[in-house]
Amino acid sequence: MTEQIEPIRLAVFASGRGSNCEAILENIENNSLQARVLVIISNNAAAGVLEIAKKHKIAHFHISQKQFESEKEYVDRLSGVLDEHQVQLIILAGYLKMIPSEIIRCYRNRILNIHPALLPAFGGHGLYGRFVHEAVLNYGCKVSGATVHIVDEEYDTGTPIMQQCVPVLPGDTPETLAARVLEVEHRIYSQAIQLFAQDRIRIDGRKVTIIP
Ligand code: GRF
Repeated sequence: MTEQIEPIRLAVFASGRGSNCEAILENIENNSLQARVLVIISNNAAAGVLEIAKKHKIAHFHISQKQFESEKEYVDRLSGVLDEHQVQLIILAGYLKMIPSEIIRCYRNRILNIHPALLPAFGGHGLYGRFVHEAVLNYGCKVSGATVHIVDEEYDTGTPIMQQCVPVLPGDTPETLAARVLEVEHRIYSQAIQLFAQDRIRIDGRKVTIIP
């Protein structure tokens, strides 16, 4: 049985369908993840993740920089929502916008992202979704995988917390490879969040130690 600890308070930021968010919610429901998703934020009003939020009765907001006249108002709105829900860890799950640097400073080492490849390979600006898997296949890689990492001020450069490989198989298309990687994503994102919930992560520069 999992030891009783205070569930860690999460905000999920997502731009699309939200399958990683849904996997996190399922793992919370089946008690393998000691967390609560307090709020879901999307920059995209039509994102599937907002429907998932409704289904699970979770507070949700469409917040896009375009709605604000200044960067300050935008950052104030995001910070306001995060403060109001007493968020401890921010989970980026297919979020296609840069997080403002002021938020990154306030939540240093407390913002996670999942990337559908083994960073530092196949990451960075423009490498998201299908483009990642296409690049892996075009390079001729024999393995790919998923990386959960800390978010810093650049795209996909923060320290990895957890990585897992999958094989690239003969005849793979970007879709078949994406599906194999996604299964791993759904598993390791919750595992990494659980380590934060249990306070088992120590970060010293780029070195991450997991306390046994
Ligand atoms: C995932 O492949 C994730 O690694 C990437 O964006 C995709 C989001 O998928 N960052 P979903 O919206 O969670 O289904």
